[in-house]
Amino acid sequence: MTKIEKIVLSYSGGLDTSIILKWLQETYGCEVVTFTADLGQGEELEPARANAEMVGVKDIRIVDLREEFVSDFVFPMLRANALYEGQYLLGSSIARPLIAKHLVGIAREVGANAVAHGATGKGNDQIRFELAVNALDPSIKVIAPWRQWNIRSRMQLLEYAEKHHIPVPSDKRGEAPFSIDANLLHTSTEGKILENPAEVAPDHAYQRTVDPVDAPDTPEIVTIGFDWGDPISVNGKSMTPAALLTELNGLGGRHGIGRLDLVENRFIGMKSRGIYETPGGTILLTAHRGIESITLDRAAAHLKDEIMPRYAELIYNGFWFAPEREMLQALIDHSQAFVSGEVTLRLYKGSASVISRASPCSLYSADLVTFEESTIAFDHHDAEGFIRLNGLRLRSWVARNGR
Ligand code: ARG
Repeated sequence: MTKIEKIVLSYSGGLDTSIILKWLQETYGCEVVTFTADLGQGEELEPARANAEMVGVKDIRIVDLREEFVSDFVFPMLRANALYEGQYLLGSSIARPLIAKHLVGIAREVGANAVAHGATGKGNDQIRFELAVNALDPSIKVIAPWRQWNIRSRMQLLEYAEKHHIPVPSDKRGEAPFSIDANLLHTSTEGKILENPAEVAPDHAYQRTVDPVDAPDTPEIVTIGFDWGDPISVNGKSMTPAALLTELNGLGGRHGIGRLDLVENRFIGMKSRGIYETPGGTILLTAHRGIESITLDRAAAHLKDEIMPRYAELIYNGFWFAPEREMLQALIDHSQAFVSGEVTLRLYKGSASVISRASPCSLYSADLVTFEESTIAFDHHDAEGFIRLNGLRLRSWVARNGR
């Protein structure tokens, strides 16, 4: 066993990771550096500093990763139109490799030989953190307190806090709260009543979108500009990636867009039920498909759709830093060279629908498709031969089988 000399902890500042922080100090008797990432979770991050100081942490890192998160992780994933099991926009999955990357970076900088996280033993997140650390620096050990200590219930967790003088906020004293994971792309809510998939999710399980029923009765029109497959402007105004996603989250949230109540298959083996809210991401996925519809060649578009489930599953399962994900990414990125232009959508009571699209690189030809007189040479007799040859094998087949 290698001796743990210094640990970098992924620290939210909340109760669970504060207990983990204390436990690491006690168990390993070494310095713990805390790393708190601002991923746009919409929570105050300064309490993380105060809470870490309280237990004697000397090296406290609070880093704003919002732009990096959106430009280097969310946008590359959106280029693929990635959805896990047909529906989930992977908001938690895509944040883990970024956090792991920074944990490893700080560990190297401060000379730590271990990193720690607060993910539990039943979830996907532990896999994502640890596979990423494996891929980035195999010399760094990962400590997962939830798999190691003998705290087995919420009660025991609170007892540990009391014993070690970790303040427990009054709202955390009672029943376990929902397990929430939020960032600029989504909010994921699991646990409690949601664990019964037959129970209808209560309205308070949703935090960043209104119920579509209560959304404004007047639709809102929004135009999104794309360049090389990435969104760059909203209503003609250029924006940085994080600012753009923030803007669309506001718009989408007001119109009840991007709610999902899903039972999914975790990589670790069980099914789980969760509520997702991905307002801006849902608008962007629809808009991106809209701009691709006029700028991608048919075979290119269909190939992208074929590999998409595989690509999404790699991200879900924690293989962001794996060679096969990078290979697929190269293919996806290559396809985006002409995916530029503008898409206009109507936001209305939970739906985001494309109502127009335009591109200087469009492959769409009105002259070719028109029902009217056309200037482009298109010989209708070619269509006849095309169908006759495609039908050749069908005619042989039915001749043998009989109908
Ligand atoms: N099930 C989702 C995933 O694996 C979300 C996990 C984190 N969410 C949470 N509420 N703790 O990507």
